[in-house]
Amino acid sequence: MEEKILENYIKAGRISGQIKAEVLQTIKPGMKILELAEFIEKRTLDLGGKPAFPVNIGINDITAHYTPKADDATVIKAGDLIKIDHGVHVDGWVADMAYTYCTDKNEMIKAVEHALNEGIKAIRPGVKISEVSRAINDAVTSAGFGVVVNLTGHGLGQYVIHGPPTIPNVKNESADVLKEGDVIALEPFVCEKNGYVKESEPYEIYSFMQPKPVRLPEARVILDTAGNEYMGMPFCKRWLVKKGISPFKISFALRQLETNEALKSYPVLKERSGMKVAQAEHTIVVAEKPSVITRAPE
Ligand code: CO
Repeated sequence: MEEKILENYIKAGRISGQIKAEVLQTIKPGMKILELAEFIEKRTLDLGGKPAFPVNIGINDITAHYTPKADDATVIKAGDLIKIDHGVHVDGWVADMAYTYCTDKNEMIKAVEHALNEGIKAIRPGVKISEVSRAINDAVTSAGFGVVVNLTGHGLGQYVIHGPPTIPNVKNESADVLKEGDVIALEPFVCEKNGYVKESEPYEIYSFMQPKPVRLPEARVILDTAGNEYMGMPFCKRWLVKKGISPFKISFALRQLETNEALKSYPVLKERSGMKVAQAEHTIVVAEKPSVITRAPE
């Protein structure tokens, strides 16, 4: 990997590690998740990064793709499992990390963090992806829990938040191997027993797919912003409201752009039987001594 690219990854990772430390000092019951999201995204910019996607804040069975609405009134309650999935990029090079907060000691959080560490320990150039998956899954099952079967770890790249390879959290026969210099995110999700996510409301997050002719002026602005400012990476209605477009016009334009296949949406993913979910994630550069770029500096 070029020196400059690695520097950008490391900078992005440091920013997310530092913000995690700040979040854990400030998060508490009674806080609005909107306030938390705005804090995380503002600090990302303050520290010289950009959000790689709207920060995801998933409570309990809400597992992924929930970012607060512009007027979101949701408040953190004692006992909630609060998953924070935060992506930072520097010149497009993405550090993706997630962690789970709860006021109470929670065994699932302990299990998911342990499973992530076991997965990281299995990483080396030439290792089969199936071996990394097995390390994660064995750690989860020996703690007496299950994983969300249909969510996986993934590769990262410049302006790419979900690239190859796919790294399942369940045992598999994949013969694919990790190579020196690959940048990957390991991302286990733990619940009481094996679970599955399904698509659900609301739709807050979108990303650019392809240019299309559009007549509605707001749709043209949104499509242009999606391609040129967000560079094809996910964005949300809340960010467009801040640009001064009315929420009603945003919803109307986004529906039209999605129908035209100019944009795609990321519906919220919930555990289908309502089980609570804990998550942990780090971004790692594959090497003889793997570098976990999103780990907070000691
Ligand atoms: Co990820």
